[in-house]
Amino acid sequence: MVLHQTLSTQLIEKEEHYNAHNYHPLPVVLEKGEGVFVWDVEGKKYFDFLSGYSAINQGHCHPKIIDTLIAQSQKLTLTSRAFHSSLLGEYAQYITSYFGYDKVLPMNTGVEAVETALKLARKWGYINKGIPENKACILVCSENFHGRTINVISFSTDESSKKGFGPFTPGYEIIPYNNVSALALALKNNHVCAFLVEPIQGEAGVVVPDEGYLKTCYEMCKAAQVLFIADEIQTGLARTGKMLACDHENVKPDILILGKALSGGTLPVSAVLCNDDIMLNIKPGEHGSTYGGNPLACAVAMTALQVLKDENLCENAGMMGEYFRQQLASLQSPFIKTIRGKGLLNAIVIDHPNPDAAWNLCIEMMHHGLLAKPTHGDKIRFAPPLLISKNEIDECVNIIQKSLLVLA
Ligand SMILES: Cc1ncc(COP(=O)(O)O)c(C=O)c1O
Repeated sequence: MVLHQTLSTQLIEKEEHYNAHNYHPLPVVLEKGEGVFVWDVEGKKYFDFLSGYSAINQGHCHPKIIDTLIAQSQKLTLTSRAFHSSLLGEYAQYITSYFGYDKVLPMNTGVEAVETALKLARKWGYINKGIPENKACILVCSENFHGRTINVISFSTDESSKKGFGPFTPGYEIIPYNNVSALALALKNNHVCAFLVEPIQGEAGVVVPDEGYLKTCYEMCKAAQVLFIADEIQTGLARTGKMLACDHENVKPDILILGKALSGGTLPVSAVLCNDDIMLNIKPGEHGSTYGGNPLACAVAMTALQVLKDENLCENAGMMGEYFRQQLASLQSPFIKTIRGKGLLNAIVIDHPNPDAAWNLCIEMMHHGLLAKPTHGDKIRFAPPLLISKNEIDECVNIIQKSLLVLA
């Protein structure tokens, strides 16, 4: 019998009791974060190897981002878009020049930005491409993850995301990921207005497509007069060793979707970027969000983006990622079937007769001071904040090595 409950257990019980059970978290209760570290309510320190699903690229509670957040929240936080704010124009100029697009449409969560991109693509399809009304088709990839709204899960191939939530939205065709022949075939349909793709499939378990896949897809889309939409919500903002994962292949998406690290993990800030021929099809009253483009988000996003450049986080992510994968490979564990990734977006695939092996390994790593979470049962993502150092990587690989003994 357990004689006393820890504070963590009490807090977990409270959460279970009052909060919806829509996640299955690791049994750890965090209350503080700084850089690559988080602390639980008992004061134990951990490396954060999830980074809020890649929202905390700049590190937890980055001082410059927090300073901006505090300063702006004492001045003005929300105007709604019924009025102008002194920061929206400045932010729009900043982010459009940062990524080289004519315009930005600011939203909050990632999935809202995905929805925005889909709406922009359909409008463009009707107005610019002349697709007959209500006939537009958007191509998407199997094993995609673009968020949780009914429209977006309509084109998911993951049963657990969909079951019980139908009926679903029409207008999408699912093609296999990393398969240019399938795209070529699908592009024969001249009602196709866009191809929506994750440059690396994060939630699917960091599935990296073949080199050249994005470039070829982009060129095929161009030839077919179809928009290439990159969902860089997870892969973007220095995570893979370049500012955008598409940069590895010199692809400039027609529509770019950003979220997560755009606020460095402080508040939901997302954005859709594209040029005027696409963006200006949306007129006043046709799309929006109460919080989208609020002054607090604008201020924070500018600082969050500036930190990525000032602290050379692309370079560090590239170098540390390479080093991390090498070190992991040198462990030569029989239980690690695959090591894959780019920059600091990595995953291992566990090969073990026990279907709970990946979960058990995560629990063991947690005991040794490293937090990571399995996805789809046998995959574990390793995605620390991008400022991690070589010594810290060594320490983490050591923890992973020790923890693997639990599978023996
Ligand atoms: C590629 C991708 N798109 C969209 C989303 C949805 O973002 P949000 O959870 O902020 O709605 C995610 C979240 O993990 C993602 O990884």
